[in-house]
Amino acid sequence: MPSLKIAMVSSEIHPFAKTGGLADVSGALGKYLDFRGHDVRLFMPYYDVLKHGESHFQPVDFLQNIPVAFNGFTLYFSVLTTTLPGCNADVYFIHCEGLYNRGSIYTDHGDEYLRYALMCHATLLICQRMGWGPDIFHLNDWQCGLLPLLLKTHYQWDGLFSRSKTLLSIHNIGYQGVFSAEVVDKLNLGPYAMMIPQEDLAGDMINYMKIGLVHSDRLSTVSTTYAWEIQTEEYGAGLHNLLRHFSHKLVGIVNGVDYEEWSPEADPYIPRHFSREDLSGKTDNKIALMKNLGLPYDPDAPVYGIIARLTPQKGFQLLEPFLLDFVASRKMRLVVLGSGEGRFQHLFQHAQYHYPDKVCFYEGYNNALSHLIEAGSDMFIMPSQYEPCGLNQIYSLRYGTVPIVRKTGGLADTVQFYNWEDNSGTGFVFEYFNSDSLQWAMNYAHQTWHHKDSWRQLMLNGMAQDFSWDRQVEEYIRLYREMVG
Ligand code: ADP
Ligand code: GLC
Repeated sequence: MPSLKIAMVSSEIHPFAKTGGLADVSGALGKYLDFRGHDVRLFMPYYDVLKHGESHFQPVDFLQNIPVAFNGFTLYFSVLTTTLPGCNADVYFIHCEGLYNRGSIYTDHGDEYLRYALMCHATLLICQRMGWGPDIFHLNDWQCGLLPLLLKTHYQWDGLFSRSKTLLSIHNIGYQGVFSAEVVDKLNLGPYAMMIPQEDLAGDMINYMKIGLVHSDRLSTVSTTYAWEIQTEEYGAGLHNLLRHFSHKLVGIVNGVDYEEWSPEADPYIPRHFSREDLSGKTDNKIALMKNLGLPYDPDAPVYGIIARLTPQKGFQLLEPFLLDFVASRKMRLVVLGSGEGRFQHLFQHAQYHYPDKVCFYEGYNNALSHLIEAGSDMFIMPSQYEPCGLNQIYSLRYGTVPIVRKTGGLADTVQFYNWEDNSGTGFVFEYFNSDSLQWAMNYAHQTWHHKDSWRQLMLNGMAQDFSWDRQVEEYIRLYREMVG
């Protein structure tokens, strides 16, 4: 089979810039497509917060000071490049100081629409100047929403793209890129404004995700359960009817995990490696985690871990009514790594204040600590209200850290209910989004932890699961081939 040309466009790519799982997925998928011999090139903004690591960013001499005309003003961008670590794929960074030097990846500034409009234009202009017509533009989330429209309009004249197809992957329908309709004029869409969903314009707004959904050739989302959930009113964030209308072009593909980065046999961030065959190192990681966070180690106290963006999506509001009692009445430890809304920070600060020997809340973002928490915890709590896929529960499975999850989206697709009768299953799964259900699942997990043989089997069941990109990448390749015909 001939190799494919794939342009992977994303607002964040690991290891350069990351706020969540989108970065892990764009980076890992790029790497595994390269491993399979495809010509994959990645495109993202050159933020000032970009992590350089070992990478050397080289300016591309024929891609300097390229103008993009908007209505009444012109922006100029230049391009730097480097290879994606661990493979040979090239990443192209769109450098436009005025737009991307903001001290954070995303902003709540009034020109967020422009920052990602430029990313879409720039991707197409870079392809043109490289004389490279991708078979597939693999687009991710609302930030890429304008690209399929631009391809059908501004860039339609260029035969280079005549065979290019667009795939928009929905990583989170809860974020849509909604702006005031005033920006339509600024975007310089001219007569093409007709191609923006008219009901939005009538409501004085523009929705980038919706534009992407309407104009992409195919749509995907990151688990099979989420693919049908978003077609319901409860989960579709207002777009369920549209998604139902386009169900023929929508598929669900469960995310993979890059086991080169996330496996207890080789993780460089953890003090002792362990595996299914030899679990002994798990305890050392637990001791190291306790030491690292200043909590006393107690072999009789199971450690509950949390790593998350602290938003209502992640469901920690369910802990509010019972967390303090739960902690007070048991030997246990709780370690939380995250940042986000004050309500959730307060919840965990409060628990830490009352039980400083049992609870540690590390506010912020810390990649090394996230690995140690996966390795050193016994259980991982993820009670999401909705979860398109979720990666931390899959990482947890690999590290013998048993997930406690709500049965929704990718959590439902990746964690099987533990059945004490035959010791089957991989975690504790509850169905209804309420505190009683979560408390029931945490109690069940806590009791099971004290049955050492059952617990060991449960860990081994999870560690045997395979969610590697090595496998999942095939699903995308199949979809791309179907698209190019
Ligand atoms: P989402 O993308 O909705 O945030 P995922 O579970 O798909 O959820 O991915 C989250 C990713 O971000 C994981 O790799 C997780 O380890 C990482 N992450 C989230 N919060 C933090 C944090 N505070 N520090 C370090 N890593 C974090
Ligand atoms: C989103 C989702 C998360 C998913 C990630 C990567 O941020 O919230 O569930 O795993 O994207 O696809």
